[in-house]
Amino acid sequence: MILVIGGRSKIGAALITELLDRGEQVRALVRAGEAADGQPADGQPAAAETVTGDLADEGSLVTAMAGVEKVFLLSSPHPDAVGWHRNAIDAARRTQVQLLVRSSILGADRETPAEFISAHTSCDRYLEDSGLPCVIVRPNLFLQNVPESTIGSIDESGTFYADAGQARISMVDTRDVAAVAAVALTRPGQAGAHYDVTGPEALSYADVAAKLTGALGRPVSYADVPDDAVRQALLGAGLTEWFAAALTGLYQDYRRSGTDGYAAQVSDTVPRLTGRPARSLDDLLKELAPLSQ
Ligand SMILES: NC(=O)c1ccc[n+]([C@@H]2O[C@H](COP(=O)([O-])OP(=O)(O)OC[C@H]3O[C@@H](n4cnc5c(N)ncnc54)[C@H](OP(=O)(O)O)[C@@H]3O)[C@@H](O)[C@H]2O)c1
Repeated sequence: MILVIGGRSKIGAALITELLDRGEQVRALVRAGEAADGQPADGQPAAAETVTGDLADEGSLVTAMAGVEKVFLLSSPHPDAVGWHRNAIDAARRTQVQLLVRSSILGADRETPAEFISAHTSCDRYLEDSGLPCVIVRPNLFLQNVPESTIGSIDESGTFYADAGQARISMVDTRDVAAVAAVALTRPGQAGAHYDVTGPEALSYADVAAKLTGALGRPVSYADVPDDAVRQALLGAGLTEWFAAALTGLYQDYRRSGTDGYAAQVSDTVPRLTGRPARSLDDLLKELAPLSQ
């Protein structure tokens, strides 16, 4: 039995499908009020069992891990996420889970002031120091952010705004991250592995604008703006101060990475583990066509 924590996220939902397709028994953790125990959660395949629990409540995680051999661990970014992930790691140790696969972020294997990344670094270190057999999966920025956020933010002049400077980022499709996690959970001999998971190419936001120009059939341009302008826009859209500060901190890290730094590195993880090429932004935009704002 494999417990998936974060099963409603893009990676988690795709992972559940991958695991069920492989004939694995899957249990998805859902928070109270989301779905009854034993009932499939909305949008999840009928064969996935569910159990109620919360990362803030270690006891609920111990209960959820009863009879579980392997755990996949992911949550939303949150000020309490480091404590949540420690709870899950402690619960997995107490219940003698055989393998924990944690979804981290690219760049978490280095020191950075960017909180979105440093929180993952802290969790990854806690996991490695726990002695629990584990795999750490480090995805780069998600390609899905482009259709879900960027396209909707294009204004009447055809411009979208970000604080990425000229940074190039090897953005990855969340379905490819799920495919890598599925291999980590099911292929023998994975304990101790670290997988940097990227797309097939490093893209600047100017490159993204050029691809959107093709996909939308009208000129799209990228405007590099100061962090504070992005922060104000995020607050105006209802995000919390913490989230807005953490997101601008991440983009400061991308700017430090520049055109050829850590965020631009292209790994061979997806083709090496799955036997097929990583999906590109062009692939994703073609799938979603016809696109409109
Ligand atoms: N966005 C990116 O481009 C990007 C890139 C690289 C890495 N990451 C990392 O990817 C991870 C997922 O981010 P996301 O934005 O895709 O997440 P998301 O869509 O917000 O999904 C997060 C999942 O965590 C669950 N969750 C949240 N709080 C929980 C709690 N207290 N107890 C149990 N489950 C809880 C949610 O459950 P519910 O359905 O109940 O809410 C949901 O299934 C984060 O660690 C982030 O740092 C993101």
